[in-house]
Amino acid sequence: MAVFMLLFLLLVSAVSGDEDAFIGVNIGTDISDMPSPTEVVALLKAQSIRYVRLYDADRAMLLALANTGIHVTVSVPNDQLLGIGQSNATAANWVARNIVSHVPATNITAIAVGSEVLNALPNAGPILVSALKFIHSALVASNLDSQIKVSTPHSSSIILDSFPPSQAFFNRSWDPVMVPLLKFLQSTGSYLMLNVYPYYDYIQSNGKIPLDYALFRPLPPNKEAVDANTLLHYTNVFDAVVDAAYFAMSYLNFTNIPIVVTESGWPSKGDSSEPDAIVDNANTYNSNLIKHVLNKTGTPKHPRIAVSTYIYELYNEDLRTGPDSEKNWGLFDANGIPVYTMHLTDAGTVFANDTTNQTFCVAKRGADPKMLQAALDWACGPGKVDCSPLLQGHPCYEPDNVVSHSTYAFNAYYQQMSKSPGTCDFKGVASITTTDPSHGSCRFPGSFGKNGTLFNGTSLAPSLNDTNSGCPPQYHGRSGSFTTSVIIFALLLGAVFL
Ligand SMILES: *[C@@H]1O[C@H](CO)[C@@H](O)[C@H](O)[C@H]1NC(C)=O
Ligand SMILES: *[C@@H]1O[C@H](CO)[C@@H](O)[C@H](O)[C@H]1NC(C)=O
Ligand SMILES: *[C@@H]1O[C@H](CO)[C@@H](O)[C@H](O)[C@H]1NC(C)=O
Ligand SMILES: *[C@@H]1O[C@H](CO)[C@@H](O)[C@H](O)[C@H]1NC(C)=O
Ligand SMILES: *[C@@H]1O[C@H](CO)[C@@H](O)[C@H](O)[C@H]1NC(C)=O
Ligand SMILES: *[C@@H]1O[C@H](CO)[C@@H](O)[C@H](O)[C@H]1NC(C)=O
Ligand SMILES: *[C@@H]1O[C@H](CO)[C@@H](O)[C@H](O)[C@H]1NC(C)=O
Ligand SMILES: *[C@@H]1O[C@H](CO)[C@@H](O)[C@H](O)[C@H]1NC(C)=O
Ligand SMILES: *[C@@H]1O[C@H](CO)[C@@H](O)[C@H](O)[C@H]1NC(C)=O
Ligand SMILES: *[C@@H]1O[C@H](CO)[C@@H](O)[C@H](O)[C@H]1NC(C)=O
Repeated sequence: MAVFMLLFLLLVSAVSGDEDAFIGVNIGTDISDMPSPTEVVALLKAQSIRYVRLYDADRAMLLALANTGIHVTVSVPNDQLLGIGQSNATAANWVARNIVSHVPATNITAIAVGSEVLNALPNAGPILVSALKFIHSALVASNLDSQIKVSTPHSSSIILDSFPPSQAFFNRSWDPVMVPLLKFLQSTGSYLMLNVYPYYDYIQSNGKIPLDYALFRPLPPNKEAVDANTLLHYTNVFDAVVDAAYFAMSYLNFTNIPIVVTESGWPSKGDSSEPDAIVDNANTYNSNLIKHVLNKTGTPKHPRIAVSTYIYELYNEDLRTGPDSEKNWGLFDANGIPVYTMHLTDAGTVFANDTTNQTFCVAKRGADPKMLQAALDWACGPGKVDCSPLLQGHPCYEPDNVVSHSTYAFNAYYQQMSKSPGTCDFKGVASITTTDPSHGSCRFPGSFGKNGTLFNGTSLAPSLNDTNSGCPPQYHGRSGSFTTSVIIFALLLGAVFL
């Protein structure tokens, strides 16, 4: 045991912990009504989201992110990987076009080369490290290598026997890739990118993993899993998987490479075969994950070492194929309306506030006044809205113009219809917002009397004409495969309690 403890202490000192942990968000674009880059950036700002990962290097998005202070991880999509891994010149061109032309205005801090390549595109395994090296040497040539890290996100399913974490190792078939990869990460001061999905671990364990473990809910001490080799206690699946990755690296003698979790989340909705994909679980997981990361708790193996994490994902992606859960990992819908309100009291400065879930219906900016008048007449007539507050001398008379009056009437109708879908349209001249339009003594129906909602919604209201960011669909198929170890982890739960 003394040997283990000594080894443990040595390992703890090996990964440095001088950087603060951050929470970022992945931005997938498989959305039929994809918000424009300007709208995306407005949402990020309103939510105080300071770190994002893109699944490509979309030019319009990178331009919109310029001079915002937002840190950006860009990606080489899997379909460009073979070209880049086989040609130094192709890699150099990619960097010139997608990186050099955007920095320093856009603060690109990392390049994710491919996505879960060993699972999604195993044929590219042999050229993966070349691709990273070529990209890196192009950065060196532009003197950008110290500020931009190069790495490649892995599925946690390449870690085998991950419980107990101390016995975890990478699938040995991939040693010819992992060993040079880890050498590269070490020599360039980069980090291991890992996707961690306790949701899949949980559902594929057939009930062996308790839901509370997956959701970071507190457990009685006698229910915590204990690694018999290290005597470390595990209270959640996320930490167990991250520690398994540290141990898998140290098994290959790499003890000083930090980990950044490039994807983690929980779906808020699923089909009938996915009963755990519900708002409550998604909210609990993401709220607890954010608190866990920002508290800098670290993991049992490396306490207080930051494991910065990108939440999967910003928007629900309605165009993704597969089970319903695939379309429902987002924190927001395409209009920027939160899918749920996270419980983040005291969590610091990400996600502007955990206050209310208010939405309002307002007249669209620039809408034709004649159409607004017609819609106003309809709402106050056949629509059965009580429009008396709009009469002269009543609280909502001022300002006396059609935009202001129709906004009042549209919203009253929308609230009286319980905000059901389609009730804030009025032939296209109305849109939903989270900004309370109440003013002075004019309280709008649905207002709880608070000013601050989740974000400043005005700028995020659906735009008059469909915007198309021109982003190609991303290639970030999550394998859905789960960490083999976690099954063993679950089996051990019954056996290894202290
Ligand atoms: C790749 O190109 C860079 C210049 O762009 C050069 O410095 C480097 O040596 C090249 N590497 C290989 C492996 O050819
Ligand atoms: C980019 O982010 C890094 C890390 O936070 C920071 O040190 C640097 O000043 C930023 N650069 C710009 C141009 O904002
Ligand atoms: C290890 O990786 C190889 C190559 O991808 C795969 O065929 C094999 O099934 C993996 N082993 C396990 C136990 O997952
Ligand atoms: C790790 O280092 C130990 C001790 O130096 C050595 O015996 C072992 O072969 C190394 N393992 C690998 C995978 O390089
Ligand atoms: C935050 O960290 C402290 C010590 O680092 C720990 O005692 C506390 O339980 C943590 N809180 C949460 C919510 O994880
Ligand atoms: C937000 O409001 C809608 C409609 O009023 C409701 O269906 C939904 O459950 C609410 N969400 C949260 C997180 O309260
Ligand atoms: C969230 O609201 C609380 C209390 O209403 C406030 O103290 C805190 O500063 C707010 N946080 C942000 C980021 O606005
Ligand atoms: C709402 O905001 C206005 C001005 O922005 C302020 O005067 C008022 O006190 C705020 N009301 C509440 C309930 O915070
Ligand atoms: C919300 O919008 C108002 C007016 O456009 C602006 O003054 C305010 O700073 C914004 N608040 C946030 C948190 O962006
Ligand atoms: C449609 O969008 C384009 C580009 O954002 C803008 O220039 C144009 O004015 C918009 N059209 C209308 C009718 O708002």
